[in-house]
Amino acid sequence: MSKVKIALVGVGGISQVVRIPSLKKNEEVELVALCDVDEAKVSFIADKYNIPKVYFDIQNLIAKEKLDGVLICTPNNLHYPMALATLDADINTLVEKPIALSEEQVKKMVEKATEKNIHIVCGMHNRFRKDAIILKDFLIKSEIGKPFYIKAGWLRKWEKGIQKGWSADPKISGGGVVMDLGLQLIDLALWLLNMPKVINVRSNFYTINQEYKVEDSALIILQTDENVIITIETAWRMHLENDLLYTHVFGSQGGAFLNPLRINKELHGNLVNVTPIQSNKNIDMFTNAFESEINNFVDVINGKEQAITPGSDGVYLMNIIDAIYKSAELGKQVDL
Ligand SMILES: NC(=O)c1ccc[n+]([C@@H]2O[C@H](COP(=O)([O-])OP(=O)(O)OC[C@H]3O[C@@H](n4cnc5c(N)ncnc54)[C@H](O)[C@@H]3O)[C@@H](O)[C@H]2O)c1
Repeated sequence: MSKVKIALVGVGGISQVVRIPSLKKNEEVELVALCDVDEAKVSFIADKYNIPKVYFDIQNLIAKEKLDGVLICTPNNLHYPMALATLDADINTLVEKPIALSEEQVKKMVEKATEKNIHIVCGMHNRFRKDAIILKDFLIKSEIGKPFYIKAGWLRKWEKGIQKGWSADPKISGGGVVMDLGLQLIDLALWLLNMPKVINVRSNFYTINQEYKVEDSALIILQTDENVIITIETAWRMHLENDLLYTHVFGSQGGAFLNPLRINKELHGNLVNVTPIQSNKNIDMFTNAFESEINNFVDVINGKEQAITPGSDGVYLMNIIDAIYKSAELGKQVDL
């Protein structure tokens, strides 16, 4: 079977740390080209990974290469126009998070993919984490009863310093810490619950660092139609000595916690730790998740698997994110 020809656009931080290494590791992939406006950087990275072609403009890449798939890893505001261009050229497309800046944009991307009968996939590596997959399996099998409350947080420590570059420029990023970190926690919580219907959201945003034009801290409450409450706390820089990243699920008969994974359930009148034993270290879990995400994208292109992070889930997520921004602006609950 011939290899799947893939190109990657935007060779910045995330591409260098995990995306390019994950593509290179998959034996079914031929990473044929890289594309970036930074000519020196893209040439250097292509040399380093032995990738034959470089492009400095996505239109050129699309015109010259016959591709089965593309990864879009550029700043957020470029996701929508770039994905429309690749989809229009019949190329299966994986877009980094956030898949676009609004629900309206993602809808158009999904419509284009449907019209072309190809795939649009969101980059959401948390769904591929081994511990999250185990936890979801326990939840589906009702091992902790009926979940009624998820409490999740991603708070970066003080030492991290202030956010540099485009991620704090709203015209490029589309928002602050909610677009960056909060959205990933919300996606994980909804996916763990099998994408329930969210009926309302309430959010409060703060800009502690007055230099920013976006929120750097946020508190969010979501309510589902089955009265499950999801709370999210997220910040780029809190007065904390260490980062905090967690998702806690409380059910009628037990509780489950990430990170690390721990599952406690009521058994014969006792609270019992039923956590499966795992050998993976946190760092392996992170890289393995990105590798599994690429493997799934390749299997989707080959018609072997369904997408774990389909574009349609991106539409739903961005509908909620839009409402979260509206709630913060209005200072009141927004119904969906
Ligand atoms: N999944 C995750 O955990 C995760 C983590 C970090 C970043 N991300 C996402 O990945 C994307 C990239 O983030 P990053 O931290 O790597 O950013 P970055 O700024 O390090 O890299 C972006 C790259 O895009 C290039 N670029 C800019 N305009 C371009 C254009 N018109 N054509 C081609 N290339 C262009 C830049 O030169 C740069 O090399 C963002 O959407 C971000 O939200 C995801």
